[in-house]
Amino acid sequence: KSTFAPGVKKVPDFAETKVVPGGNQKSPVSSHNEWDPLEEIIVGRVEGATIPSLTHEVKANTNHKNWSFFEKYGGQLFPSQHLHKASGEIEEFCRILSNEGVIVRRPEIVDFSREYSTPDFTSTGLYAAMPRDILLVIGEEIFECPMAWRSRFFEYRAYRKLLKEYFRAGAKWTSPPKPQMSDELYDQSYPMTCVEDRHRLAAEGKFVTTEFEPCFDAADFMRAGRDIFVQRSQVTNMMGIEWMRRHLGPEYNIHVLSFSDPNPMHIDATFNIIGPGLVITNPERPCHQLSMFRNAGWTIAEAPLPTIPDDLPLWMSSKWLSMNVLMLDQKRVVVEKNETPIIKLFERLGLTPIKVPMKYAFSLGGGFHCWTCDVRRRGTLESYM
Ligand code: NVA
Repeated sequence: KSTFAPGVKKVPDFAETKVVPGGNQKSPVSSHNEWDPLEEIIVGRVEGATIPSLTHEVKANTNHKNWSFFEKYGGQLFPSQHLHKASGEIEEFCRILSNEGVIVRRPEIVDFSREYSTPDFTSTGLYAAMPRDILLVIGEEIFECPMAWRSRFFEYRAYRKLLKEYFRAGAKWTSPPKPQMSDELYDQSYPMTCVEDRHRLAAEGKFVTTEFEPCFDAADFMRAGRDIFVQRSQVTNMMGIEWMRRHLGPEYNIHVLSFSDPNPMHIDATFNIIGPGLVITNPERPCHQLSMFRNAGWTIAEAPLPTIPDDLPLWMSSKWLSMNVLMLDQKRVVVEKNETPIIKLFERLGLTPIKVPMKYAFSLGGGFHCWTCDVRRRGTLESYM
């Protein structure tokens, strides 16, 4: 018998929401690699994108040309005219994905400029633009990754509605231990200006994040079925990689790759696996383990130089977003419409480029792979090595 007065709308509580016991036969989350036929994807959003403050870890991961921008405007929204143009591109990208038959989902709008405090630090947020950085799908499991930037501590909130929906419908949902992000997580003496020092330290396996506790960004992982490739980076530490290795168990091989890169952060503009045995490499960041792929008979295609003009602000990344492409299946590749050299490379490889404008969206630090997280691709768990 209802205890609600007539006319008062009863809000359903969780006990009444249908949760599939023991998971579903067909989980709404299922993706084993970067190229199986895409059915559902999360595309990030521009709204609320907030300039991070110039903290130690931001300094270590960004071009010094932009430091005064972060210093001056940290905590405020990114310039509105620029966001407006980026938003137009992202909405167009969503339309194109829908036309190609892909279900497009979006995070919620969050005010990332609101300041928050934990017992260890105070910060403002960043954005919900790059689901690839935080969400990692391995098989039927979706991870909310323990990212290393203080401004990203609460980023998961934008995705919780979707994650709960996927969980209710049968997906496995995992949140690894959340880093405290106290000062011990960051090497306070990490050299910020000298590239030579960074090269030397990267070669020694030293980065701005310490091994105080596990941390990793999803975008440092690249999936090829039973083989998962990851880099130790400015935001992913060895403890984080070991956490993932133990969690996934013997069904998966976790390979740690390294590159001649003084500032590694997110593997998908450095080493982008776009097909079964097909990888795009970055000529400025050679991979130290390339022979492993050669020996396995993979095709290794070097990305041509990006064409992004020098006057476009790239607040959060290098120009190599040109190779940060998204596969809709083994043939269709979503690529920036002005990146003619890499479009030609894809054509030579027998792929079908889908050209989409993304110039202004690049400014926030990601290309098509970064701006998305593929939730479901039709396919099975295979070995490609
Ligand atoms: N941090 C890397 C990857 C971005 C997706 C870069 O700037 O090239």
